[in-house]
Amino acid sequence: MPCTVSMTVNGKAVSREVEERTLLVTFLREHLGLTGTHVGCDTSQCGACVVHVDGRSVKACTMLAAQADGAQITTIEGLAASDGTLHPMQAAFREHHGLQCGFCTPGMVMSAIDLVKDNASPTEQEIREGLEGNICRCTGYHNIVKAVKAGAEAMHGSGAKVAAE
Ligand code: FES
Ligand code: FES
Repeated sequence: MPCTVSMTVNGKAVSREVEERTLLVTFLREHLGLTGTHVGCDTSQCGACVVHVDGRSVKACTMLAAQADGAQITTIEGLAASDGTLHPMQAAFREHHGLQCGFCTPGMVMSAIDLVKDNASPTEQEIREGLEGNICRCTGYHNIVKAVKAGAEAMHGSGAKVAAE
């Protein structure tokens, strides 16, 4: 049965009629065209679909769009500043080569931002544990850990976008 869902996505109010069973990830990708949020599995294991719902990381394949009604959603497309300046965590992934094919990267970045929100200096173990729900089949994680560490320092150094989320 169709239902109307309304939410704020990357700062813009959106409202669409969807089937009740529509997943949030499907809503973002197919109804809003925000294909930076990826789908890498059908078992809720890979984390490629992570977005922020009211400031917290959520696997968008585990939630119905209707459950996000009224929420504030941030996707990977909503992180950079309007002039194209990358979010500090995005910049750190680029700087530290925290990706190869890039498929896992949007989910990694979204999870990493939430992970370090309250922790300017996470240990390697905290980062690895915090990203347990995100699978990368390319990098061996070493550079991802380095990127998250650097991103955490940059976020807490600049403070700008962290406070805004
Ligand atoms: S698509 Fe794999 S966890 Fe959501
Ligand atoms: S960079 Fe390819 S899956 Fe992570």
